[in-house]
Amino acid sequence: MRATAIAQPNIALIKYWGKRDTERNLPAVGSISITLRELYTRMHVEFDADAVADSLQVNGAPDATMLPRLSACLDRVAGGDRLRARITSESNFPIAAGLASSASAFAALTVAGAHAAQKTLSIATLASLAGQASGSAARSLLGGFVELENRGEDIAVSALCEPAEWPLDVVVAITETGPKAVGSTEAMEISRHTSPFYQSWLEQQPHDLDIARDSIARRDFGRLAAIAEHNCLKMHSIMWASRPPLVYWNAATMRCLQTVRKLQGSGADVFFTIDAGPQVKAVCLPEHTQAVAAALRDTPGVVDIMISGLGSGARLENAR
Ligand code: PMV
Repeated sequence: MRATAIAQPNIALIKYWGKRDTERNLPAVGSISITLRELYTRMHVEFDADAVADSLQVNGAPDATMLPRLSACLDRVAGGDRLRARITSESNFPIAAGLASSASAFAALTVAGAHAAQKTLSIATLASLAGQASGSAARSLLGGFVELENRGEDIAVSALCEPAEWPLDVVVAITETGPKAVGSTEAMEISRHTSPFYQSWLEQQPHDLDIARDSIARRDFGRLAAIAEHNCLKMHSIMWASRPPLVYWNAATMRCLQTVRKLQGSGADVFFTIDAGPQVKAVCLPEHTQAVAAALRDTPGVVDIMISGLGSGARLENAR
């Protein structure tokens, strides 16, 4: 009745922003991401017949804020009549700061919860369950380049390319470690209801997905870079034009973009992407990783750097 699973966060190259069904947390658009290798969340779930309520420890400290979402996710995985659970979570990177911590957390929780409840679930079912908790979490069930599609009444995830088939690196420039001001669920709804650019975002997404899918199949870094930066800036344009405006960037975020432009000018194969937070993720070919990391580390306002390759999907570590 206990299990431990590990999952890595993923970074979207073609972004998910907006929901078509808030009840079932279904995305309004497809997305394409890369799963990271060095960053992880480890989740331990233990069902306990003597416990009267679920409990959660995050990085060694009790956490009541996240608990309701985790409990609801376990209800969907193990059934509403399940035993109460002791949940322990451990991440090696800042949480709730735009580093996709909810993706790795819910992917790991879904796998650990299913095994602790002795349920054998397919990847498709696990992805759908993780996606109901956090849309991006469905993508962390798989490794490498992952596409999330809207299929009928549900979602479907598929691996476009394994990590070893196109080993890119990601340099994360951390410009702020605190939690973000507006969570993505609330922010997406603000955008859907108020942004004048939201409708064209929905209309253009299939085109961006086609270009990215094709660039990945051909290992065309330059074409992938151009569509990923464009798609990221479009998502932030929707946010900026929302009411109230959603501006996740700080001054260092902008400086990091300029650093990436300079690196590109000097011939480095690198591009940026930014999620609902102030951190900049620079995706590059491995021969440029050290130069990209050094340039971002020297960018004023950058407090830390993390380097990661591409990794595998969520998996069970042990179950008893
Ligand atoms: O899965 P959520 O609800 O945390 O939303 C993720 C939103 C972005 O990170 C901004 C984009 C994405 O596709 O991951």
